[in-house]
Amino acid sequence: MQLLLEKIRQQGIVLPNNVLKVDSFINHQMDPQLMKEIGKEFARRFQNEGVTKILTIESSGIAPAIMTALVMNVPVIFAKKRKPLTLTEHAYTSSVYSYTKQETNIISVSKDYLKSNDTVLIIDDFLANGEAALGLINIVNEAQAKVAGIGIVIEKSFQEGAKKITNKGYRLESLARIASLENGTVTFYHEHSLKV
Ligand code: G4P
Repeated sequence: MQLLLEKIRQQGIVLPNNVLKVDSFINHQMDPQLMKEIGKEFARRFQNEGVTKILTIESSGIAPAIMTALVMNVPVIFAKKRKPLTLTEHAYTSSVYSYTKQETNIISVSKDYLKSNDTVLIIDDFLANGEAALGLINIVNEAQAKVAGIGIVIEKSFQEGAKKITNKGYRLESLARIASLENGTVTFYHEHSLKV
């Protein structure tokens, strides 16, 4: 997605430890026009999958997820990272380890909002080690619903997440695929050439 790649080139900051800071348009300040285009693009790519619900995880997945949901005209659910008292045992849960933050979160979704007849599109901002996406997949499986696919705004293709997901047979669509962040430079996989 050209607009996204340009934005990453212009405003992305490469931090040590292979982290791409995109706080000026995704993770802190958000660019609504870009999010709208992201929503349209995910909706276009998954239009034939029979999606009935979109699932993401708080907090940065919510913006691209709600824009996609708006275009697809389906509800969006965000998994909560801390199990609130009101969810108690009436929730699907999964354990998600964050390598970046070195902490484990129990993520949860109320059983009220995910049913076995749902076809669920999972959306998130980053795919790195894939723990968050796999946790969301577990939750959909627990609900005995169907995974339509996984839509990612920025995939760090040099980390394990993408392989873990595609090896399990799920459809993965990433709008920006980063081959490397070495030497402080963002290198993308070219859309029509190299594929991991
Ligand atoms: P995973 O998301 O694929 O499971 O990998 P990892 O455990 O490494 O990621 C943990 C958190 O760090 C996730 O956010 C993920 O989006 C974020 N992250 C990973 N790599 C990068 C990166 O290069 N740049 C930025 N900006 N974020 C990265 P989270 O803990 O769920 O946070 P949030 O959604 O509340 O912001």
